Amino acid sequence: MPFPSTRMRRMRRTDTFRALVRETELSPTHLIQPAFVIAGEGIREEVESMPGIERFSISGLVAEAGEIAAAGVGALMLFGIPAAKDEVGSGAYDEEGIVQMAVRALKDAHPDLTVITDVCLCEYTTHGHCGVFRQGGKEVDNDLTVELLAKVAISHAEAGADAIAPSDMMDGRIGSIRYQMDEEGHPGVPIIAYSAKYASAFYGPFRDAAGSTPGFGDRRGYQMDPANAAEAVREAELDLDEGADMLIVKPATPYLDVVRRVKDATAAPVAAYHVSGEYSMLKAAAANGWIDERQAVLETLTSIRRAGADAIVTYYAKEAALWLR
Ligand code: PBG
Repeated sequence: MPFPSTRMRRMRRTDTFRALVRETELSPTHLIQPAFVIAGEGIREEVESMPGIERFSISGLVAEAGEIAAAGVGALMLFGIPAAKDEVGSGAYDEEGIVQMAVRALKDAHPDLTVITDVCLCEYTTHGHCGVFRQGGKEVDNDLTVELLAKVAISHAEAGADAIAPSDMMDGRIGSIRYQMDEEGHPGVPIIAYSAKYASAFYGPFRDAAGSTPGFGDRRGYQMDPANAAEAVREAELDLDEGADMLIVKPATPYLDVVRRVKDATAAPVAAYHVSGEYSMLKAAAANGWIDERQAVLETLTSIRRAGADAIVTYYAKEAALWLR
């Protein structure tokens, strides 16, 4: 038999052949755009470490959301920056809190845009941790925090959030939130659970944006050790048992193996969160002319889909959606 000089290349020769055999699709509907809303009026400030990302007060956010919706992005994920913080993060479950007001304004202006809210305390506590401490306690108290998180989730559902996404990594919070949301008349609001959220250095720019850097200590007592992957599957199974509707793995690109494992082990809908540091690295390299931004971003997002993510939370959502049209 002669040596087969051409084999795999035959189906790569034309655009149409390549499209016919393409295994992974990336479309705007797969993307979720995170957005920061800040208390106050007429505020619009760029996040220094995240070029292209701004913190808007409510009216600016509503305008930005119109562009996000028009680009065809699947959903918006909302993070709030309150006017004031306290020890227990009470601004997080205030009916007139920044996220609650923003959700009402967003759903009013863009009823068809899916609004997911981040449920956590770190932007609302003076100490910047994702939970609360008992008097004299040295660690974030799990059960006390879970009680508060359920209040946060209910207040978001009441404001009209389409789905809530707890990002705190306390144990048992999905079950508790599900139970209490059902009791309060919100059985139809899905929970998108951050099941495998790692204690990652790639959250740095987000903490600048949201003012949520812990004042002391770090988050390793509740977020996952980057060395572990089987543990992510256990976390995912627990959250599903407790009633999660969709799972999140976070960050995305350094954890594509985890995305794949969670997807294969659970068959549940999985989102990967392409976090602030992943965004900023691409922006920085592109700004220096070291990579082609559009190609690098679309390659990255396609890789996340190929690893098994159904949806991708990414600061590039709007830009990528426009590129994909
Ligand atoms: C807060 C939260 C964080 C992110 C999303 N929700 C930060 C953290 O845990 O410190 C990070 C998002 C990003 O880096 O883009 N619970």
